[in-house]
Amino acid sequence: MDERIPLLIDTDPGVDDALALLMALADDRHEVVGLTIVAGNVGLEHTVANALRICQVAGRDDVPVFPGCDRPLLHPAPDAAYVHGVDGLGDVGLPPATRAAEARHAAEAIIELSHRHAGRLLLVALGPLTNIALALRLDPTLPTRIARLVVMGGAVTGHGNITPSAEFNVFFDAEAAHIVFGAFDRFDLADWEATVAHGFLHEDVDRWLAAPGPVAAFYEAVSRHTRRWSEDARGDRWFCADALAMAMALRPDGVLEAAERPVEVVLGRSAARGATLVDWQRQLGRPDRARILLRYDQSALEAQVREALG
Ligand code: BDR
Ligand code: CA
Repeated sequence: MDERIPLLIDTDPGVDDALALLMALADDRHEVVGLTIVAGNVGLEHTVANALRICQVAGRDDVPVFPGCDRPLLHPAPDAAYVHGVDGLGDVGLPPATRAAEARHAAEAIIELSHRHAGRLLLVALGPLTNIALALRLDPTLPTRIARLVVMGGAVTGHGNITPSAEFNVFFDAEAAHIVFGAFDRFDLADWEATVAHGFLHEDVDRWLAAPGPVAAFYEAVSRHTRRWSEDARGDRWFCADALAMAMALRPDGVLEAAERPVEVVLGRSAARGATLVDWQRQLGRPDRARILLRYDQSALEAQVREALG
């Protein structure tokens, strides 16, 4: 029997998604059984094309890529092309991948893979939660077959990145996040504020990206636009949200501090739409569903990134 942990990644690549995918594809304790793709950072046609390109660069054309939802469940939301480039991977003129995506919809693939790997599947969500919410509507028993869900999303004390209080993935499809957070009794949450606490010095990243080999060269090119934007907008550290979430997923022993609390998503049209309201004092008597990452071993995180870049 294959001892590796089956890993399904729902993602919207995206520059930081790309690094997270390379980390997962390089990890020999996990078997990536599929990528389900959602619109988010950029439109679905780009996020699907990028997922295929990333697999190709990693030499993993065996990993099936399933296109999913091309918009949020209810309310249209703006993308993040200003961070990731119009094509989502830095607009460096990448050729299309040599293979095509699967015909099956991502939401159906999530359900099917949850049956195939029932009780063992690690599900990591790196984008808006639209596909997973849709899968839950199609099959509400889905959580019973997922061994562990790790979500990149939220801003647990209200320091958002897309609005003053909301983080991009949750804001993009707040209704989907509400559905997912309410359906799983337990999930791991790597939020934007944890990301900010675990940035990479730009000079270190430049050095890692100078490693020989096609993976580092690819990632140096596709991340250049984002890294320069980040340097101008955010200072001397680069914040790579999806890489931190993936590290938490792949190496849970790197978690140095976490807090279990109830988390709710603010819906509606107010200025707080998409905020993640954490009941830090447990005032409402709701169950602690989210295990919120507070501190991760920075050197273990950086080692995983370096390994992924070869
Ligand atoms: C999240 O939003 C996206 O732009 C990134 O890919 C990451 O998943 C960070 O807020
Ligand atoms: Ca993402």
